[in-house]
Amino acid sequence: MPEQYTSIVDTSMASNELLSSAPERALLIGVSLPNDQWPVQESLDELEQLAVTAGVTSMGRVTQRLSRPHAATLLGKGKVQEIADLVKYHDCDGVIFDVELTPGQHRVLERELGVPVLDRTALILIIFGQRARTREGRLQVELAQIEYDLPRLARQWSHLSRQKGSMQQRGEGEKQIEIDRRMLRRQKEQLQEELEHVRTHRQLHRERRKDTGAPVVALVGYTNAGKSTLLNRLADAHSHAEDKLFATLDPMMRRARLDGGQELLLSDTVGFVQRLPTTLVAAFRSTLEEVAEADLLVHVVNAAYPAMQLQVDAVEQVLEEIGAGDRPVIIALNKVDLLPDGDIPALTGKAATLPTVTVSALRGTGIADLLHCISQQLNSGFVPLDVLIPYDRGDLVALFHQYGMIDNECYEEGGTRLHGHMPANHSGPMMGFRVKLKRSK
Ligand code: GTP
Repeated sequence: MPEQYTSIVDTSMASNELLSSAPERALLIGVSLPNDQWPVQESLDELEQLAVTAGVTSMGRVTQRLSRPHAATLLGKGKVQEIADLVKYHDCDGVIFDVELTPGQHRVLERELGVPVLDRTALILIIFGQRARTREGRLQVELAQIEYDLPRLARQWSHLSRQKGSMQQRGEGEKQIEIDRRMLRRQKEQLQEELEHVRTHRQLHRERRKDTGAPVVALVGYTNAGKSTLLNRLADAHSHAEDKLFATLDPMMRRARLDGGQELLLSDTVGFVQRLPTTLVAAFRSTLEEVAEADLLVHVVNAAYPAMQLQVDAVEQVLEEIGAGDRPVIIALNKVDLLPDGDIPALTGKAATLPTVTVSALRGTGIADLLHCISQQLNSGFVPLDVLIPYDRGDLVALFHQYGMIDNECYEEGGTRLHGHMPANHSGPMMGFRVKLKRSK
């Protein structure tokens, strides 16, 4: 990281201060609006899980049904007062709203409630900030945080602007906001530049990977569906699996082999969540590009979750948003060990039409079926080959072993005879050694 960049980060009070810490004890606030897809209590269940992941203890829930949100405070006046009383009663140090608040609502609610207010987006950003491990992950989260903070700066200095009768202090507050805004903008530009660097690098990697031809299979799914656990099963890797949301934030790649010996690359990506903040989708663009360019997606679904279909729909929506809507998909209905025998819930909509395998990543059941299904899907682009490779072309035999599916291998006078399938994009060097071709010469 360049010197100058470090110093700007260090002297800036702004971005990370607004989102630095989660409260210890918070009230959770849900709003029910017409046309809401998710029932308010289910959405609050998820918010509570997010809060726990961020280290917050929920002190209770307050909900309000509204025909439309109040412009200034989101909720009605009486409700805001009720929350303020509960904050005092439970000695809360924060309130978390299960919706995205406008900067104006944020400011007013914080003033009325007397404690820091977070919305869903801020909570997710805090979790991402706590969990990003790689440089790219951290840069992406930092950028998303700045984008979130920029329109909310006024909130931070409202204590100065509010001080009674002090025009001078109000002026100071405004001056300070302007200084911070400029700092954040500069910081944002530098982060964007750095990210562009990392992005180019990643793109190069991707192209090199394409050259080697090993197909990429991306595991996608709602947060906590079991992607990392499944990745471990498939690749015998040791990625991070935890019963917390967004345990995996940074994309990872692992090698795996199918039965016929074909090599593939498995990638695990950030878990999706309903209403994934748009700033985050944008910030994670380069990570999510891995998904959009994968040869096959395995959509991991938590089949034991009662509102499974809502999660499936949310994932499909994000896939569309990131340009991965056209990728071939296999559904892996996971956590079936938690369901009574044979009681596998049915999917609806697009998901119901896709190849589906039931698995328990934890117990390791259904893994062979899943690998078989992956193999079938990937190999629909394969060509059959029967070749006789001369003994001095061990490189081609190795190529077949690496990328192909071998049904039969034997050693003949003229070389190694291989019979099987290879991805069309790798079959080129083999064409001159096809057995039929040689005979017709
Ligand atoms: P994010 O990183 O949040 O996206 O999560 P993930 O989808 O990678 O889920 P992860 O593999 O971290 O698993 C989440 C929790 O579910 C962990 O506690 C796992 O042990 C548990 N889990 C995963 N697969 C199964 C399964 O087949 N059965 C049961 N009972 N639990 C499972």
